[in-house]
Amino acid sequence: MSALLEVAGLSRRFGGLLAVDALTFAVAPGEIVGLLGPNGSGKTTVLNLLSGVLRPDAGTVAFRGHAIAGRPAHRIARLGMARTFQLVRPLASLTCRDNVLTGLAFGRRNAWGAPARTEADALLERVGLGRACETLPGELTYIDQKRLELARALALDPELLLLDEWLAGLNPTELDEGIGLIRSLSGQGITILLVEHVMNAIRSLCHRCLVMNTGRLIASGMPAAVLADPEVIRAYLGDDGDA
Ligand SMILES: Nc1ncnc2c1ncn2[C@@H]1O[C@H](COP(=O)(O)OP(=O)(O)OP(=O)(O)O)[C@@H](O)[C@H]1O
Ligand SMILES: [Mg+2]
Repeated sequence: MSALLEVAGLSRRFGGLLAVDALTFAVAPGEIVGLLGPNGSGKTTVLNLLSGVLRPDAGTVAFRGHAIAGRPAHRIARLGMARTFQLVRPLASLTCRDNVLTGLAFGRRNAWGAPARTEADALLERVGLGRACETLPGELTYIDQKRLELARALALDPELLLLDEWLAGLNPTELDEGIGLIRSLSGQGITILLVEHVMNAIRSLCHRCLVMNTGRLIASGMPAAVLADPEVIRAYLGDDGDA
């Protein structure tokens, strides 16, 4: 099967720091792939490079067969890649419905008017925000702002969804719901690359994991094997094992 996403030699430097160092991996259609690694290992930078928020210094990214490295974010989104941000960034002066409508209008759906409104409300319902269509994002709890982020990403009708710690900070009930929601998106045919620290979620959701440390890929494979890998354990605990 040919890959949906194929990344080779992807690198990005910030001054003297090589934040992403010659990363090579692929994601097949239908997969849920976890991108793990300790704080500062380069995970968010990878999502920024894939989604066009940042330009790579080197490397290639093929998405659905298109060479997208360095292309602007809106072009990549229109090819069918959507993402959520680790720090949520809704359009503060628009209601939740209107936030989602912008994604429907300017994404590849190109949906406007009454049908788009119906669809926006359905997407908000899907992520558990059905009651908040008329609410401003600033009035939502943090968790609900993350739900809104997801609804906006889904409005782009993605084939590949990049989630940056979308499950972080959820209570146990919300976490179960969140995991169920991600699984249902996968069941609907959306391929998912998720950056996550919540190990239970990784174990129960991911078909495969990639682990980064200081910009480099240090392990990849099935979650159970990867999480038991001594090099991965060392990376999470720190070199001296004291952390
Ligand atoms: N725009 C930027 N300018 C300068 N340095 C940056 C920038 N973005 C990230 N970095 C640095 O690059 C490294 C990787 O950061 P990144 O945010 O990708 O890590 P992360 O794995 O997502 O961490 P976390 O788990 O804490 O979210 C860090 O040292 C960070 O300080
Ligand atoms: Mg991050």
